[in-house]
Amino acid sequence: MAINKLKIGFLGSHNGSNMQAILDGIANGSVQAEAKVLISNNSQAPIIDKAKTAGLKTFHISTKLFPESEIGNEIANIMKGNEIELIILAGYMKKIDDNLIARFRNRIVNIHPALLPKFGGEGMFGMNVHKAVVESGEKISGATVHLVNGEYDSGKILAQAEVQVLPQDTSEILAAKVLIAEHKLYPETIDKIAKGEISLD
Ligand code: GRF
Repeated sequence: MAINKLKIGFLGSHNGSNMQAILDGIANGSVQAEAKVLISNNSQAPIIDKAKTAGLKTFHISTKLFPESEIGNEIANIMKGNEIELIILAGYMKKIDDNLIARFRNRIVNIHPALLPKFGGEGMFGMNVHKAVVESGEKISGATVHLVNGEYDSGKILAQAEVQVLPQDTSEILAAKVLIAEHKLYPETIDKIAKGEISLD
């Protein structure tokens, strides 16, 4: 019997290592999904070449090309036009606007490089997160996959992976350790969503 694969689309701004981990999982059969589309706001982002290599359609949508107020609908039009069922944020540095959230309610996921609800919110991205964790003296950090709603990093938590913070860890070392954990957690979580083992509603 043919398995119905979850149709996924990505939004990304930079490197795309998490997207690559999910694409690798699809290629080796451990993620039951079909990746169709990448949209980037950054026409120079390495994530675009990674997507092209994997045979995805790629699109550049930014405020250089569209008024800010139309970005969410443009993204939703492309995703809907390609029958995308789940939007995966893979290092997407723009806020997701209300139009996109309304048209993909509970169907947008993100990965955050800390254990939410700690170390989330506006301004908490990239190295800012890891610096804050190291400075706080926390002994455990990690990664969180969560639903995206209108507020930064506050949607329902779907899955988490823990990483030990050792006394000698700098924020750079912690970032590298968390990224390795992300590359395992994100594909596993997408597969569970695809199989209905994690509910989005
Ligand atoms: C990851 O650390 C992720 O947690 C955050 O953005 C980074 C993206 O890295 N949301 P990459 O583009 O997947 O390599």
